[in-house]
Parts: sequence; C-alpha cells; structure tokens
Amino acid sequence: MTDIAQAGTFQLGDRTVKRLGYGAMQLAGPGVFGPPRDRTAAVAVLREAVAQGVDHIDTSDFYGPHVTNRIIREALHPYADELVIVTKVGARRGADASWNPAFSAAELTQAVHDNLRNLGVDALDVVNLRLMFDVHGPAEGPIEAPLTVLADLQRQGLIRRIGLSNATPRQVAEGRRIAEIVCVQNQYNLAHRGDDALIDDLAASGTAYVPFFPLGGFSPLQSDTLSAVASRLGATPMQVALAWLLRRSPNILLIPGTSSLGHLRENLAAAELRLPEEALAALDRIAGAQ
Ligand SMILES: NC(=O)c1ccc[n+]([C@@H]2O[C@H](COP(=O)([O-])OP(=O)(O)OC[C@H]3O[C@@H](n4cnc5c(N)ncnc54)[C@H](OP(=O)(O)O)[C@@H]3O)[C@@H](O)[C@H]2O)c1
Repeated sequence: MTDIAQAGTFQLGDRTVKRLGYGAMQLAGPGVFGPPRDRTAAVAVLREAVAQGVDHIDTSDFYGPHVTNRIIREALHPYADELVIVTKVGARRGADASWNPAFSAAELTQAVHDNLRNLGVDALDVVNLRLMFDVHGPAEGPIEAPLTVLADLQRQGLIRRIGLSNATPRQVAEGRRIAEIVCVQNQYNLAHRGDDALIDDLAASGTAYVPFFPLGGFSPLQSDTLSAVASRLGATPMQVALAWLLRRSPNILLIPGTSSLGHLRENLAAAELRLPEEALAALDRIAGAQ
C-alpha cells in the first residue's frame, strides 16, 4: 500500500488535507450521465481510496445528475471526520446530457439542497461556484450575484467553505471581496498551463489550487517525452504527470479521476515518486512544444 502522506498536505481553508485526493466524476455513466456500468466497482473504488488514506474527494450533484453523490453516500456514509468532500454548483444537466448554466438564486439554492440530501450531510464542507460564462474554460463575467447567494447559504450554516471553478484571475479577485475563497479548481496539467501565474499568486496567499483534468481528462495525456521520462523512472506516464503537478507548486491538491481500482492504486502511488531535475526540465518543455 502507498504511503500517500509522503506527498504532504495543504490547506482547504481551516482544513488540512493530503495532497493526493480523488475526483469522483468518472463514477457516473458514460458522458458523466446516468448510472455507471458497474455500481459495485464504483463503490469499491471509493472505499479503496479512503482505505489508502485519501481525505479529499471532489464531486458534484450534476455528475449523473445525482448519481455520483449517491454512490459516495452508499460507499462512505457515515463519513470519517477527516474526510473533506468538495462539491460544485452552477450547472444543470439537460435531458440530452448537455451542461447548462444554473446561476439564479433559486437554482443555486436548489443545487445546495440537492447536494446536502444526496450526500446525506447537514452542511457541505466546500462548495465551488463553477462558472459557466464559457463552459470549456475561464471567461470574464460578473460573479457577485451568484457568489452572494452562496455566501448567504454559508451564513445560514449550509455551506462551510467556498471556492471557485473555471475562474479567471479577475474573478478570483472579485470573489475574494465577497467571500473567503479557499480553493480554485481550473483545468491544468503538464500540457495545459494557462494558469501558471494564477497558481503562483494563490500559493503566495496560501490558497489551494486544484487542477481538473490532471491526466488530460477525456483525452488522457499522450507525449513521447512523458513516456520516455516514465520509462526511465520505471513509472507510468500518468504517475509522472501527477508527480510533476505535486512538484509544480505546494498549493496544488490532486483529484485524479478513475473508475478503476488498478488506476486508482497506480495514481496514488505517484505520492512516492520523486522526479530528478533532468526529468523536470524535460517535462517543463512539453507545454511549449504543443
Ligand atoms: N470543475 C470542473 O469543471 C471539472 C471538470 C472536470 C472534472 N472535474 C473534477 O476533476 C476530477 C479529475 O478530472 P477527470 O476525472 O475528468 O480527468 P483526469 O483525472 O485527468 O483523467 C481521468 C481519465 O483518465 C483515465 N485514467 C485515470 N487514471 C489512469 C491511469 N492511471 N492510467 C490510465 N488512464 C487513467 C480515466 O479512465 P479510467 O476510469 O478508465 O481510469 C479517465 O478517462 C474529476 O473527477 C472531477 O471531480 C472538475
């Protein structure tokens, strides 16, 4: 079994979590819609993650919708005190599996209550406001109104901490004037490094950065350099991609997603992988070569 504590810890506000966590999106059906092909396997993946020491799980009630949260509840409820479950609101799934903005006060409040009910908790540990000005990447637009709704729900005790997802640096700054922002969850990996400056700014203020698609998401990372480094180190390319993120900045928390026990164990083992300087230099050149 891997000692995932070797990768260290970081803060989500007043909570400390291990830097190797788990993203639950892959536990819904194909296209993150409907039930998984194998629910028993999904439950087993979650239980194995926690058994290996994972104390940070990322989810949303719009995965399925409702599916992933109900599987988390089935697998892990009652939750261990040390487990931090991070969810997100701001989108609604269409009957055609589409992802649609859902930012009205009524929709956000409904989403928080859906998460509470499906996870089986009285308060949500962390809620990310998932911005949808452009579904595929950060885009400017005002966030005061929706974030104020979440801040009100926080004052009512239904949300403990607030984060932002798919956010620009300007939106992070705007958000900080409305609520304490404990994490930012944006797309970032070896090959997709648009947030380099933002990560460094967040590190300086002790704010967690949680890259989604750390392995490339729906198109897993493929690079000859990555494969060559991995084979020199006797590791897999995905382990090297995760180890690189751990080295990139101390405020990065990992939530790689998988529906497979084998991949879960492989990903967690990245906590023990140390990258030599020459490997880092080669990996740093991947983004420039895209
Ligand atoms: N805020 C947002 O907008 C947003 C968007 C997307 C995702 N997220 C969150 O971020 C988490 C991570 O993102 P993600 O799951 O989409 O992408 P990811 O972690 O980059 O990659 C997941 C994909 O890689 C495969 N995989 C995982 N481990 C592997 C391994 N060791 N070897 C080979 N393939 C492997 C998975 O397939 P298998 O199931 O076959 O392992 C899956 O297809 C999600 O679970 C979700 O919680 C947030």
